This record gives sequence, structure tokens and C-alpha cells, in this order.
Amino acid sequence: MAPSSFGMEGWEFWVVQDGTLKEKLQPLCWNQPQITTCSDLVVLLSMKNLRSTNPYVQKQFEPRGEMYEKYLQTYKNFIDSRSDEEINCWAGKQVYIASAFLMLAAASIQVDSCPIEGFEKEKVEALLNVDTTRLEIQYLIALGYRAKEQQPRYRRPLDDIVKFL
Ligand SMILES: Cc1cc2nc3c(=O)[nH]c(=O)nc-3n(C[C@H](O)[C@H](O)[C@H](O)COP(=O)(O)O)c2cc1C
Repeated sequence: MAPSSFGMEGWEFWVVQDGTLKEKLQPLCWNQPQITTCSDLVVLLSMKNLRSTNPYVQKQFEPRGEMYEKYLQTYKNFIDSRSDEEINCWAGKQVYIASAFLMLAAASIQVDSCPIEGFEKEKVEALLNVDTTRLEIQYLIALGYRAKEQQPRYRRPLDDIVKFL
């Protein structure tokens, strides 16, 4: 139930469970151990080219019923004049929102997670046969149960990061 701007849901989540595939992925992910020791490795992808003319976009607005044209027009004004790069970046941000939901949902059932940005994007996309005209990988999340106790965790104090105006 993660939210997305305009309810676009311009994302896919590919769950790698096959051990052989994980082994092939590991060297493309900085040889990080959690690639092969995790239970499920989620690859988070965003859709490209989400302009208002994209049939996916139009389909996504269909449930709006009589508000369909209004939604499409507002979306068109919001998105269409941006560059491809800006639109793809916007779609990527939505995936990061969903990814936070994914990690919190996992934690709520005591499943641990490790977000992974340490990977070679083009090589992983090639290995997984991602149709890069339509999709791109944002990042990966390893899911499973922790093997040992966690290191101490540090965060900046609340007063440093929150300003009440
Ligand atoms: C987008 C993102 C990418 C990350 N990439 C990696 C990674 O490739 N490998 C890794 O071990 N940790 C990765 N991390 C985890 C961070 O290093 C970790 O959250 C941070 O050091 C704080 O540790 P803590 O969350 O355990 O308190 C990533 C975190 C985020 C949010």
C-alpha cells in the first residue's frame, strides 16, 4: 500500500530466490555476502518514459472514472515538459518510497533487510534480462533473518534534523 505520486505505481519488484542466480549476481554487487546468504533478494525497478501518452499511464488512471480526463490533464501538465532523465528520476524516487514500506513491513514480521546500492547497474540489468527501454533497476534489498546480533546503530539527534517553524 505504498503511496506514489498520482498513484502511478511505476514500479516492479523482482524477487530472486534461486541460489545459482544469486551466485552470479554477487560479483556484480561488490561481492557483498548478503547477496548469497539472504533468503530473498528483491530487485526494485522503476518504469521509464512515464509521459501521459504512455498506455501504461492512461491505464493507471482508468479507475478514476469520470475524473479520468482531469487526472490525465493534470499529470500531463506535471510531467510531459520534463526531460526523459527528469521523468525517470521522478519514477526512481517513487521506488524509494515503496522500498521504505517494504523494509518496515518486513521488520513488522521480524524479517531483517539490507538495502544495497553497491552494485553495477548495467551488468545486473544485462544478467537479469531487464528490458531497459521500459525499466531500470533502482537498487536491491536483501531479506532474511539476521545471523548474528546487530552492531550498535547511530543516528543524528532529533534536534539536529527536525526544525519546528
Ligand atoms: C539506499 C541505500 C543503499 C545502501 N547500500 C548498502 C550496500 O550496498 N551495502 C550495505 O552493506 N549497506 C548498504 N546500505 C545500508 C547503510 O549502509 C546503513 O543503513 C547505514 O550504514 C546505517 O546502518 P543501520 O541502518 O544498520 O543503522 C544502504 C542503505 C541505503 C538506504
